[in-house]
Formats: sequence, C-alpha cells, structure tokens
Amino acid sequence: MPYIHWKPEFSVGIERFDDDHRQLFSLLNQLHMSMAGRESNSALNLILRELNWYAQTHFTAEEVLMKRYSYPELDAHRVQHDRFTEQVTQFCDYFQSGRNEIIVEVSDMLREWLAHHISQSDAAYAKFFRLNNWAEVRSLPQALVSYANFAVRGALS
Ligand SMILES: [Fe+2]
Ligand SMILES: [Fe+2]
Repeated sequence: MPYIHWKPEFSVGIERFDDDHRQLFSLLNQLHMSMAGRESNSALNLILRELNWYAQTHFTAEEVLMKRYSYPELDAHRVQHDRFTEQVTQFCDYFQSGRNEIIVEVSDMLREWLAHHISQSDAAYAKFFRLNNWAEVRSLPQALVSYANFAVRGALS
C-alpha cells in the first residue's frame, strides 16, 4: 500500500499538471519508503532535493498560468505553495540535524497538505479555468513547465 496514492478525483483536467501531481505523490512515496528502509542519508537527501525542485517548478507553472488569466485567488494560492516549500526546507533542516523523530511528522504534514491542496485549491482554479479560456489553458502547461524548469533551476543553483 503506497503512503499516498492517486485517485481520479484528484484530476484537475489539465494533463501536464495531473502528471506533475502524480510525480509529487511518487516522490513522497519514495521518501517514505527510504525512511522506512533506513536508507542512507545521501539517498534521502537526493529525493528531498528532487521533491523541492519538482514542487517549485510545478508551483511556478501554475502561478504563471493563474496570473496570465487573472485568477482572483492567485495570492492566497501562492501563500499555500510557499507553505509547502517552507515545510520541505524545514524537513531538510531537521533531517540534516538528525532530528529523526520530527521527520515522520513533517512527512505526514506534506502528505496531508498535498492531498488537501490538490483536491481543494487546485480543483478551484480548474473550475475557474473551465469557465474561462479552457481550451487555451489546457494547451499551455507543457510550455509553462519548461519555462518554470528553467527559472527554478536558475534560482536554486
Ligand atoms: Fe498543483
Ligand atoms: Fe497549486
């Protein structure tokens, strides 16, 4: 049984973003499995870095799309994204200082956050876009993710 698993209700109807969400789930599962299997610190560190990078790239792509189509809840949505990024950073800090008892708690928090954010907040923008420029919106995310990839890589390096 995976730690967090994908359900069709999580779909936002935008293929590229659904793929991103599935990938975030997969990274969280890998993280959980590595912790349970007591894998080396460097293996865990690698997954954490990948999770951080992948989440930021995905968030940037979503935010650019929301800005482009004047999504009214953009600011509140961005605050939620920032919260997740902070939690991942905190996770890295706890992990590096060997506070293993907190790591499980933080990983549970990330799981709750992800499931809740996708099913509520991401679902809300999907509803908005369905009523506004839906065909155009659905054709853009691949390009936005490529752009975000480039922007986030620059910011993190
Ligand atoms: Fe998302
Ligand atoms: Fe989001």
